[in-house]
Amino acid sequence: MTLSRRRFLCGAGSLLGAYAVADALQLAAASTMPMAMPARLSAATLAAPKVPLVNPVSLARFVDPLPVPPIARAAGRRAHPAYPGRTLPYYRMQMRAFHARLHRDLPPTPLWGYEGLSPGPTIEATRGEPLLVEWINALPAQHFLPIDHTIHGAERSKPQVRAVAHVHGARVPAGSDGYPEDWFEPGHSALYHYPNGQDAATLWYHDHAMGITRLNIYAGLFGAFNVHDAEEQALGLPSGDCDLPLILCDRLVAQDGQLYYPVSDDPSAPWVMQCKGNLTLCNGKLFPYFEVEPRRYRLRLINVANSSFFDLSLSHDQPFQQIGSDQGLLSAPVERTRIELYPAERADVVIDFSALAGQSVQLRQQGEGVMEFRVRDRGRRDASALPASLRPVARIDPAGAVRDRVLTLEEVDDAGGNAMGMLLGGKHWSDPVTEDPRQNSIETWSFVNLTGDAHPIHLHLVRFQVIDRRPFDLFAWNAHRTLKYTGPAQAPPPHEAGWKDTVRADPGMVTRIAMRFEGEPGRYVWHCHLLEHEDNEMMRPYQLLPAQA
Ligand code: C2O
Ligand code: CU
Repeated sequence: MTLSRRRFLCGAGSLLGAYAVADALQLAAASTMPMAMPARLSAATLAAPKVPLVNPVSLARFVDPLPVPPIARAAGRRAHPAYPGRTLPYYRMQMRAFHARLHRDLPPTPLWGYEGLSPGPTIEATRGEPLLVEWINALPAQHFLPIDHTIHGAERSKPQVRAVAHVHGARVPAGSDGYPEDWFEPGHSALYHYPNGQDAATLWYHDHAMGITRLNIYAGLFGAFNVHDAEEQALGLPSGDCDLPLILCDRLVAQDGQLYYPVSDDPSAPWVMQCKGNLTLCNGKLFPYFEVEPRRYRLRLINVANSSFFDLSLSHDQPFQQIGSDQGLLSAPVERTRIELYPAERADVVIDFSALAGQSVQLRQQGEGVMEFRVRDRGRRDASALPASLRPVARIDPAGAVRDRVLTLEEVDDAGGNAMGMLLGGKHWSDPVTEDPRQNSIETWSFVNLTGDAHPIHLHLVRFQVIDRRPFDLFAWNAHRTLKYTGPAQAPPPHEAGWKDTVRADPGMVTRIAMRFEGEPGRYVWHCHLLEHEDNEMMRPYQLLPAQA
């Protein structure tokens, strides 16, 4: 019997389905036998890859150097109507198809990337210094990953290859934000301007094209975008070549080097609700090593995976000092032996190698080494500092909110029983706008998670604070749509008490956030950052209304 996408989702259930799929693929990778599926998941639910996957155990560890993405260079200066009487640095970012070796012993992998790199070049910005980027679509006319034409926005009438760039975490006018429907085809480009009127933070850019974001990012369209400011610079944190992005994602890699994107066995509706890899890429390499000196380093950890979270630790059991979260510096460093990052979340950490000359340390993901630091003394002195306090984070008082919006996270069947979607507030992408905050007002949003999974929820334009998470009675909600709490509210831990733009909304919990809607009025989006969900209705427009006169 062939299971449709809907059957797969309803029957297998979100939790079991998704994880079992990943396990099954790993199983398939570990043996050369045909895919063995757990009994509860029919073999018909997922199509097997044509070429067997790489067995992770077979790959030599730590034989390739860690790539550090180059710093993007401006192609000159240009005028822009939003900045009369001046010129701004002008960058060109061309999206291209290319091949790269993910590992010394694998054949080259076809990828897409900005400037022919994945991760693309790092854009370095400074607070208050606007810049221009021309995002150029020079991709081929055909996609190399499986498009699901039944998904809203990815119909057959649309060109296969479409792209639009979004800088995640940037406070940017709507016209430069990369609205998912503002995509453009190969041969076209868009000139965006970034005011950078925001505190120092590790942001990242990535594709956001309607209905195919998961495929475009999986193909390699992402890179780092760092904002610096004077106060941060004055702290003396590790800088220069001791400050680098570490961009993490997982991929299913086949033995011929190609990326495999999982599909359901229904060729007319290949969408699957999660995509978990068999291998972890660190700045685009598998199991790289990185030579460091015995001193402090600042790593900007960015999770750019489609749906996997990372649980990172160091092999010598020394803690990380976390100094920043999504939207910039924490009030003080937080010592952590493990760092958990959901898709799109960032953690800036300082690692001190000063006592480790001649040794090596592994970065572990769920206990498995995915990268190695080799500490070699080159006689340079470490002039960096790790101050005991970093930047005050003024708490937003939820009592000052003009509005609390209660928004569900749901996994439901259409009325017609046809397509399974992931919904926000019970609404589809194309439903009229319901979230319409006023510029400069404070609101609190309460995410009521009715599903069995955690969803990382992201709002464009604004930074927010996590107020709390609180368990609630799902049955009471389903029966009368009333919120009945079953336990005390849990305040965020110190590493989540800074500025965020993506928050993990746990199952069975109400997750509350507070934000002031600073920015230009216009149409933005908020969504789940599990890319499979985002592409299939777990994304909503929101309208920032002008401040009341
Ligand atoms: Cu990371 Cu709407 O994006
Ligand atoms: Cu989700």
